[in-house]
Amino acid sequence: MPSPSDAQADLIAYLDFHVEAGADAALDEQPHDRFGEPDSPAPTLRAPRRVATARAVEPPVVAVANSLVPPPGAPAPVVAPRTFGRAASAQPDEAASDARTRARQAKSLEELERILADFDACPLRFTAKNLVFGDGNPEARVMFLGEAPGADEDRIGKPFMGRSGQLLDKMMKAVGLDRTSTYIGNIVPWRPPGNRNPTPQEVAVCRPFVERQIELVDPDIIVCLGAPATQTLTGSKDGILRTRGRLFPYTLPNREVKLLATLHPAFLLRQPVQKRLAWRDFRALRALIDGTA
Ligand code: URA
Repeated sequence: MPSPSDAQADLIAYLDFHVEAGADAALDEQPHDRFGEPDSPAPTLRAPRRVATARAVEPPVVAVANSLVPPPGAPAPVVAPRTFGRAASAQPDEAASDARTRARQAKSLEELERILADFDACPLRFTAKNLVFGDGNPEARVMFLGEAPGADEDRIGKPFMGRSGQLLDKMMKAVGLDRTSTYIGNIVPWRPPGNRNPTPQEVAVCRPFVERQIELVDPDIIVCLGAPATQTLTGSKDGILRTRGRLFPYTLPNREVKLLATLHPAFLLRQPVQKRLAWRDFRALRALIDGTA
């Protein structure tokens, strides 16, 4: 095999850098030579709202191996704009209100999953491989909620399957729990590209579905793993090191249940010294389950 030219080696290094940085999802089938495009007008600081919203859902373009740049002199490829269903046009408020209406229609978790699978107003579904709805026992008294699926969950279609999931399993086991006695979901059911954080708009659009999912599981205790889940469900703006270990009330249609905030396993993998705090929270969880808190 001929060795790559310097230009090819540069492009390969450039791609490696982006893959390392998490840009591992190709969002278009054709490459775009952004350097060859005519200069676009300088962005105005106060763009009209309509334009800003349209930009926000425009998919970023990521080059993929084997399709780097057209050979010199080749005509620029004509690329049909990709529409991404209603996600390209729906305003976030409209999408969230549509999500609410649809989520309310679900009378069971299976129905909710089907409705969610057909819901096309969240752009994340177009970059994810699979819908990651939930796992575990739908009758469980304890429901765990994470933030959003990662690469392993996206591939398998179930929450907490990767390293964070393995740690979560160990933490649960330490207090006598497992996936047969708990139910696990996420605030956002599709993987954000490159594992970036879901945007507030994405969270707002998916929120009615997770709220309905909680209603249908009807747990006695909700455990929020990390700040995004805690903030979304409690409205608190505090960081997780402040809220962890705290109990919040969570209102279900017919009763109030307890919500416990704790640290996300991914955070614990990065900062193992904080496991002692998580251990305290999990012991508090056990006491809540046993009614000895
Ligand atoms: N992190 C999450 O928040 N959820 C998952 O499902 C996996 C990792």
